[in-house]
Amino acid sequence: MDFPTNGCALVAGGSGGIGRAVIRRLAEQGSDVAFTYRGNKDSAEEALREVSARGQAGYAIKVALEDDKSVAESIGHAVGALGPLHTLVYAAGPYIDMRYISQVTPDKFRSVMNQDAIGCYGLIHAALPRLRETKGAIVVVGTPAIRRYATRDILSAAPKAAVESVMKGVAAEEGRFGIRANMVGVGLLTDGMFHRLMETGDFDEKYLEAARRNLALKRLGTAEDIAEAVLFLASSRARWITGQTLMVDGGYAL
Ligand SMILES: NC(=O)c1ccc[n+]([C@@H]2O[C@H](COP(=O)([O-])OP(=O)(O)OC[C@H]3O[C@@H](n4cnc5c(N)ncnc54)[C@H](OP(=O)(O)O)[C@@H]3O)[C@@H](O)[C@H]2O)c1
Repeated sequence: MDFPTNGCALVAGGSGGIGRAVIRRLAEQGSDVAFTYRGNKDSAEEALREVSARGQAGYAIKVALEDDKSVAESIGHAVGALGPLHTLVYAAGPYIDMRYISQVTPDKFRSVMNQDAIGCYGLIHAALPRLRETKGAIVVVGTPAIRRYATRDILSAAPKAAVESVMKGVAAEEGRFGIRANMVGVGLLTDGMFHRLMETGDFDEKYLEAARRNLALKRLGTAEDIAEAVLFLASSRARWITGQTLMVDGGYAL
């Protein structure tokens, strides 16, 4: 088996485009899945149905990542409901406007760092004692913009650079307890927050056409493309891989 048969995975951001795809794949692999959402109850309920349709148990937790205490409690709730935590996936993050740095106020920057980088830190920090018990795995989502900067992407690149550092630190310090940690760098998708970026006009057809032209593989990605890589890094098939960032971006960061 690629995942332990007892216990559960916890996916932060399970109501989002990427989180939902990861949840489906985990359930298909025979894992029970707890997940967090912040406000999208309909999507959380749909995720629960998708887990149960695959014959596994699901458990939804409403939590705001910037609330450290509740984030730590949510780990306890997941373990209480579904058993030992063998996998932690961080697939959450606030919606971000695509703006030049000159247009992003320090308050806006602080708020995004708080929800994304510090939220992820709090989640991982709270989960470490549980993951030591199971010699578990952590996978966080990031962005190729931490290697090749895309203009107007500071609100994605800056927190994800911090998240990558935390991931590497955990890999280096917790490996002796059997914990692995890795990142998937998420290229431009036609899923998840893409839909809102189109609605607001931050993305338009001209932008997308240029983006496609610049990719080695000449197509934008899907949440399923990302889930595939997340599942591999979380599974026992990646048992000697830790501290790595795998760019799943159609060749953007080359
Ligand atoms: N889609 C892309 O093209 C792309 C590219 C690069 C990186 N990423 C990164 O990948 C991650 C997931 O992206 P996605 O496209 O799946 O986004 P999404 O569909 O907008 O989902 C975001 C998820 O994060 C949750 N969330 C947002 N703010 C939160 C907060 N303050 N506290 C707790 N939960 C919060 C949302 O909960 P509710 O919806 O329930 O409120 C939702 O579950 C993000 O960090 C994003 O920056 C995405």
